Amino acid sequence: MKDIKNRIEKLKEDLNEWNYAYYVLDNPIVDDSEYDKYLNELIMLETDNPEFKTDDSPTQKVGGQVMDKFEKYKHKLPMLSLSNAFNKDDLETFDEQIFKEIESKKYNFFVEPKIDGLSISLIYKNGNFFKGVTRGDGIYGEDVTSNVKTIKSIPLSISDKSDYVEIRGEVFLSKVEFEKINKQRQNNDEELFANPRNAAAGTLRQLDSSIAASRKLDAFLYYFMNREKFHTHSESLNYLEKMNFKVNKLGKICNDIEEVYNHIKFIELQREKLEYEIDGVVIKINDFDLYEKVGYTAKSPKWAIAFKFPAEVKETLLKNIYATVGRTGRITYNATLEPVQISGTIVQAATLHNADFIIQRDIRIGGKVKIKKAGDIIPEVIEPIQDNKYKSLTKWVEEIKCPVCNSNLERVEGEVDQYCINFECPRKIIRGLEHFVSRDAMNIEGLSIKIIEKLFENKFIKNVADIYKLSKFKDELIQLDKMGEKSVSNLLESIEKSKNSSLEKLFFGLGIRHVGKKTAKTLAISFKTMENISKINFEELEQINDVGPIVAKSVCDWFEIKQNLQLINKLKEENINMIYLGNEGSKNNDKITLKSFVITGTLSKPRNYFKDLLEEYGAKVIDTVSKKTDFLLAGKEAGSKLEKAEKLGVKIISEESLLEMIGE
Ligand code: IVH
Repeated sequence: MKDIKNRIEKLKEDLNEWNYAYYVLDNPIVDDSEYDKYLNELIMLETDNPEFKTDDSPTQKVGGQVMDKFEKYKHKLPMLSLSNAFNKDDLETFDEQIFKEIESKKYNFFVEPKIDGLSISLIYKNGNFFKGVTRGDGIYGEDVTSNVKTIKSIPLSISDKSDYVEIRGEVFLSKVEFEKINKQRQNNDEELFANPRNAAAGTLRQLDSSIAASRKLDAFLYYFMNREKFHTHSESLNYLEKMNFKVNKLGKICNDIEEVYNHIKFIELQREKLEYEIDGVVIKINDFDLYEKVGYTAKSPKWAIAFKFPAEVKETLLKNIYATVGRTGRITYNATLEPVQISGTIVQAATLHNADFIIQRDIRIGGKVKIKKAGDIIPEVIEPIQDNKYKSLTKWVEEIKCPVCNSNLERVEGEVDQYCINFECPRKIIRGLEHFVSRDAMNIEGLSIKIIEKLFENKFIKNVADIYKLSKFKDELIQLDKMGEKSVSNLLESIEKSKNSSLEKLFFGLGIRHVGKKTAKTLAISFKTMENISKINFEELEQINDVGPIVAKSVCDWFEIKQNLQLINKLKEENINMIYLGNEGSKNNDKITLKSFVITGTLSKPRNYFKDLLEEYGAKVIDTVSKKTDFLLAGKEAGSKLEKAEKLGVKIISEESLLEMIGE
């Protein structure tokens, strides 16, 4: 027995050392087969002798624990974020503010890369790994311990045996690992991650920890919370390193802002060849003793700042320009590019927005262009490089026909975009269906764009109302490849459930130009039924808070089109709910609900009080009086609105009669 225990100890020790050499020092000392041999032996011995299995065993790094959900965990101290600097001036202001607080120039800075991952807090108790918690809202994080345990560079036991040790840092995925994951996802027809940070976040939040284990998350640690042990940040980082944590090597002490700035430039030069993404540099006062003196704002410490790099810009060849059609028929132009590495990913396509964008910049096919990643996700062409070759290239001309259905494109007055206005355009229909089933609309699960395309091609669906006829084709659906019996019944169930969605979901799902989620909700609250919305005129619509003339016109135009009215009827035939089911307007009163009110003059309480009261009863409150106004609520010194209401024969009521109508 003693032999077995000793053997387990020896295997653990060796494996931990090799792990550290491989994952933290980046300097493997044995080859993979040797490592696997030891690990397998350890797994076997631990399985046969569970009494010798400990929480810090390297076998814990392979994952396997599956959670229902992540528990919330309150951070001992809030996880703050940093304020940003974008140039040298901002750094100087940062320095001046510190000087103001401590009235002495005797401090220096620690300058280190800002890792583009997600923050994590690691807690150790008596030397043993206890919890790994995400930032969450800064106060409460999610307990992702099971996934953090699988991160090879995070030790499960440390030499510091204090009751409580907390260390914060950043979990990330290397650029290579990110590409690998995305390639796999592409092969499996799964949605791609936009960047390594999203991939890391998606991985850390997997409920099955073997997925995290297989994806090779990594972590840099940069903040030792038990500050009382040290005087400076740099000393604490040395200590973390000694405890086998991965600490970034590019950190450096700088004596003044000039040196800080030079080191920022140095780090920026390394950016591209680093194995991981960085999005800036973090500058901290090195002296821990000054932290409290310099203090905090509500959101961030004043002793540190993040210098953000500008979006990376690259030059590459623009091989072609092609147009795509969106759900509203809007044409977007895109560029095919000679592949180029930018902010961690290989980019071979970028948006050119609309025809005006290309024409104004005189972008030409076959020439070189500058590109950048806007918001670090969608690459965008900035401008052409006007070299000698460029001058010999022909000017680009805009498409006049839809690239999908070949019908004429139209421009809407006052808008930069071109539109395909053909109702039958297959792309518009498919994109429209995709929008209709999306989460913020009817939330039908199981209809990916690929399946929608298939259903459309096979003539199962031609419009959104046809989705509700799918239950008649259960057997045929099962035959469609990749759709098993279970997924078909799940899909049909989800379709059935969607019939009871509240009006705003349906209205948003119709994909009316300029009607976003918020506008759909506003209209649903104000008008309560599809019937009411369909009858509304431009002036009345424009009166609604948050609805401008563009939205009002778009909604009115939509209801003028015969095919759209037919679609609403088809949806009605399928028993789709067309009533607002939300809380607002929850009270009912025959005299008030769904009636339109205008408020004028001085009342006993602010107008908003009466507006809220009326809306609670499901009334619409609008700004100007028209023939369609049901009531004018008039207070003292009412002026032109009262006159107009009298002229139009609109019923005029006082505050008292309103309260009477309500019964108060
Ligand atoms: S120090 C009190 N150092 O950037 C805040 N943060 O808004 C201590 N980050 O939420 C943070 N690399 O997730 C620090 N070397 C680094 C960092 C870093 C990345 C992240 C961190 C923080 C955000 C700043």
